[in-house]
Amino acid sequence: MNPHVMVQESIPNGEFNTKPGPSIDSFTNTLASGGRKKIVGVFYKGNEYASQNPNFVGCVEGALGIREWLESQGHEYIVTDDKEGLNSVLEKHLPDLHVLISTPFHPAYVTAERIKKAKNLELLLTAGIGSDHIDLNAAAAAGLTVAEVTGSNVVSVAEDELMRILILVRNFLPGYHQAVSGEWNVAGIAHRAYDLEGKTIGTVGAGRIGRLLLQRLKPFNCNLLYHDRLQLDPELENQLGAKYEEDLDAMLPKCDVLVINTPLTDKTRYNSLL
Ligand SMILES: NC(=O)c1ccc[n+]([C@@H]2O[C@H](COP(=O)([O-])OP(=O)(O)OC[C@H]3O[C@@H](n4cnc5c(N)ncnc54)[C@H](O)[C@@H]3O)[C@@H](O)[C@H]2O)c1
Repeated sequence: MNPHVMVQESIPNGEFNTKPGPSIDSFTNTLASGGRKKIVGVFYKGNEYASQNPNFVGCVEGALGIREWLESQGHEYIVTDDKEGLNSVLEKHLPDLHVLISTPFHPAYVTAERIKKAKNLELLLTAGIGSDHIDLNAAAAAGLTVAEVTGSNVVSVAEDELMRILILVRNFLPGYHQAVSGEWNVAGIAHRAYDLEGKTIGTVGAGRIGRLLLQRLKPFNCNLLYHDRLQLDPELENQLGAKYEEDLDAMLPKCDVLVINTPLTDKTRYNSLL
């Protein structure tokens, strides 16, 4: 049984987009469903960085930029970073909260026990993508809506992946550490430094991030492979220059670099893919 997972379009740089979209609809519908609601947001602390960028709203201080709006509607909005253990702020508010908002970067783990305690809970909202911090079976059994903001941060993740691939293949970090510590041992770096050109890169998952990564890798003249539950449209496959590998086991030995771009679920966790 799957909980009701909603989607919404792109949100750049951790900003929270309040344009109408399915996950925002589910949020506004919950708020409008009668009475004063208690919303708890769990984010990391911004500390001295919070005031350095007015768009840095994904932290406790920024509170997603929705405090004024929520309070003007008469709702109660509690924001905290304190989420672990029975004495945490989150635990204290569980019995009467209606909406719990969290992010993948500082997730509020929502276990079956917590769901049992949260008698008024209606909506679990991830201000980002990935709901693996939530016990989805328990959420479904309790009839909760689990919503996430599909499309958020996908460019950041794809660019980050490309950066990591280049750093690893080029053996950059040991070279950097040599340079800052005044060492100069070229052989120590060069014996494991490669070009990306001509290498075979495989992505497990060719959804939003997987496709953006393939698109970014194309100019590097690599062999691009992808495995997914579904094959891409032939025209898109052609544009990306990537070849579909229906059998994951057959793809793995061909890859010099493998990137996993699937959600974390029971089917993709650790060795269940392999
Ligand atoms: N930390 C972050 O900032 C951040 C941001 C965005 C996404 N993410 C993570 O990346 C994941 C992927 O994001 P996305 O936007 O590309 O999602 P997406 O839904 O667009 O793509 C996921 C792809 O994985 C495929 N897939 C799922 N299960 C599979 C399986 N068992 N075998 C093969 N393919 C499978 C799907 O068919 C889909 O094409 C998210 O679920 C999230 O966990 C993290």
